[in-house]
Amino acid sequence: MRVVILGSGRGSNAEAILQAQAAGRLGRAQVVRILSDQPGAGILALGARFGVPAQFVDPAPFKTKLEGEGEGRFIAAVREAAPDLVVLAGFMRVLKPGFLGAFAGKIINLHPSLLPAFPGLDGIGQAFRAGVKETGCTVHEVTLAVDAGRIIEQARVPLLPDDTVESLAARVHAAEHRLLPAVIARLSGVEN
Ligand code: GAR
Repeated sequence: MRVVILGSGRGSNAEAILQAQAAGRLGRAQVVRILSDQPGAGILALGARFGVPAQFVDPAPFKTKLEGEGEGRFIAAVREAAPDLVVLAGFMRVLKPGFLGAFAGKIINLHPSLLPAFPGLDGIGQAFRAGVKETGCTVHEVTLAVDAGRIIEQARVPLLPDDTVESLAARVHAAEHRLLPAVIARLSGVEN
């Protein structure tokens, strides 16, 4: 199962996926390309470390969505890698019908809350400020409605009495790093 990872940030989840692969815990899945909309993103540095082609793709002209010429460039770059699965690991752009249609049924996203609670930006901060007793993370199918596609799997993270938003974030991220590789392995047909 050929996997392409898209991300905009430091890439800790992409790193967790690549480490799982190196440890033989990614089932039949293999990461074949890493793409980012941010030229300086940490996620791109993982390519050299793990021997996977990694590349910045210009997302212009829009700032928060992938549409128009930038969308066309992303469709071409992803297509070139012939993926069976496209994993959004901190890809901070809203996808539009062109990209979704090109890879229909193949795109999954990681979100740092128990969807449908706290969609959109800063899912961890939203949950912390709402004072919920537990939050977590979600892997779901990507559809036109943002953060609303079918939920594949979630991991729960309790809030502790002395939590700060930073300590909570650290535990949510740790849960993400376990959940996302496990879901990819399962989608490839292998249970860890
Ligand atoms: C992760 O916490 C992921 O859930 C979140 O971005 C972070 C990426 O971290 N995604 C979203 O908020 C999507 N709406 P990483 O670059 O270290 O993997």
